[in-house]
Amino acid sequence: MKSLIIYESFYGHTHVVAQAIGDTLALHGEVKIMRADEAQINDLRDIDLLVVGCPTQWLGVTAATRAFFDQIPAEGLRGIRVALFDTRYQRPRWLTGSTAERLERTVYKLGGGIIAPPENFVVADREGPLVEGEVERARSWATALVAARVIEPA
Ligand SMILES: Cc1cc2nc3c(=O)[nH]c(=O)nc-3n(C[C@H](O)[C@H](O)[C@H](O)COP(=O)(O)O)c2cc1C
Repeated sequence: MKSLIIYESFYGHTHVVAQAIGDTLALHGEVKIMRADEAQINDLRDIDLLVVGCPTQWLGVTAATRAFFDQIPAEGLRGIRVALFDTRYQRPRWLTGSTAERLERTVYKLGGGIIAPPENFVVADREGPLVEGEVERARSWATALVAARVIEPA
């Protein structure tokens, strides 16, 4: 299985989660981890699984992650299994927003096959730290992705 993990991170926490996911997926195949502002359309070639992680800011998606999706042409994610996660505050989701949830529609529009509900990993405050246990939870989430099947849009 060939996986690409794209992340954006201002204080390093989404990067830590992305790395934990990458380390786990590396037990099952080839993994490349890239920053959203470095990733290009060619990086999607031949991958089986795309994982995108983004910090939630102002209830939504940050610029480089949005720009990454904007460069993908129509149907550009067809045939690719996709999982989305974000980092955010540990408060009810209706208060915090969720980048991963926001991006789900974009992925479906581009033909991608979502394989897991959008996942949130939580930080204690704006600059962190990640709440205890989140890195372990990221590893478990990644393990579950390996065999997960595509969820049809509701
Ligand atoms: C400008 C700004 C706006 C933010 N807005 C939100 C928000 O609307 N909801 C939320 O849950 N967290 C918000 N946060 C907290 C971020 O989610 C948190 O900084 C991020 O998860 C840390 O990940 P990082 O270290 O990868 O940047 C905001 C942080 C910043 C800097």
